[in-house]
Amino acid sequence: MESSLPAVVSQPVVALLTRAAIFLVITLKSGPEHDATARGLCADLSALKRAVGFRDLEGGLSCVMAIGSDAWDRLFATPKPRDLHPFREIRGQHHAVSTPGDLLFHIRAARMDLCFELATQIMARLGSAVATTDEVQGFNYFDNRDLIGFVDGTENPVDQGAIDATIIGEEDPDFAGGSYVIVQKYLHDLARWNEVPVAEQEKIIGRTKLSDIELNDAVKPTSAHNALTSITEDGEELEILRDNMPFGDAGKGEFGTYFIGYARSPRRIEQMLENMFIGRPPGNYDRLLDFSRAVTGTLFFVPSATFLEDVAVDAAAAPLAAQPEATDQTQSRPRDGSLGIGSLKDVRQT
Ligand code: HEM
Repeated sequence: MESSLPAVVSQPVVALLTRAAIFLVITLKSGPEHDATARGLCADLSALKRAVGFRDLEGGLSCVMAIGSDAWDRLFATPKPRDLHPFREIRGQHHAVSTPGDLLFHIRAARMDLCFELATQIMARLGSAVATTDEVQGFNYFDNRDLIGFVDGTENPVDQGAIDATIIGEEDPDFAGGSYVIVQKYLHDLARWNEVPVAEQEKIIGRTKLSDIELNDAVKPTSAHNALTSITEDGEELEILRDNMPFGDAGKGEFGTYFIGYARSPRRIEQMLENMFIGRPPGNYDRLLDFSRAVTGTLFFVPSATFLEDVAVDAAAAPLAAQPEATDQTQSRPRDGSLGIGSLKDVRQT
């Protein structure tokens, strides 16, 4: 069936895993001049990325820009993506904190210098509009391991599966081609983790440590990390796309995983978090959290690249690509996951 959606280009959410990444979370100062600066960056970001990336095309520089709920209300007069809200903290067996963030830049490349240069250019452009910044520089650790020693990212969807998991389709036509992203900075108590026998660690993660093979259901506990983060709806697995990165400061004894998860609905990631922090059933929580503490937590919307390029500096509005004819959009939108992106022919990745 032909898609009735307008042609839009997505941001490079579905990028290949890279050796380096910078996660830049920014809060903006209040004031119309600062809002204008942020809007100006929206339209200019692709040119900045082109300029830096062209200096080493093989470096594969990419950047995803995402916008938090409060910032969306401030910056744009357009309707809001239907599932955009501030990150909801979870208090269960462990605490998933909610921390501020107006803009997220997820910068990836084969080389850290490319990431760093783009982050520098972005910060120079934002200038005095920035109130606070949390910057994490992530690195690839051997064969895609996190600092707890397990391979991370194996069960990520790939190719069309990754697009289906992340890119919004007809369920929110005004924002087709967009995505949602949740970030959380985790700090590990590595000394305590390393005291746990490997066989126990494997039961906590649900995979073997050295060979990265999934544990057999007969031995895998229902509290295993990969069990609690496997969720289904109407018999279908609901997937997300992760690009976690290790980070740390050996001198300070800081060892972390920067979690970043993209999905076409934040509900999927929230459900996984509830399973991890509260438990499924409650109490049967993710034992990884006995060793890893979430110190940030923020939800953002990733507009399409087309949307970003159309943002005007002075008018607090970005034109929507097309207005659907339906007068009551809420009734015409199916729930998440009911329509595949396969029917959305015109959405492309930059
Ligand atoms: C300290 C933070 C975390 C660490 C170190 C970590 C590590 C891992 C590892 C080692 C795996 C197994 C290999 C793989 O399939 O990637 C995994 C799987 C997975 N993780 Fe995490 N993770 C963390 C946080 C999270 C969070 C916060 C979520 C979601 C809210 C999440 C969602 C998933 C999913 C969906 C899978 C794949 C499950 C499957 O289908 O097998 N992870 N993680």
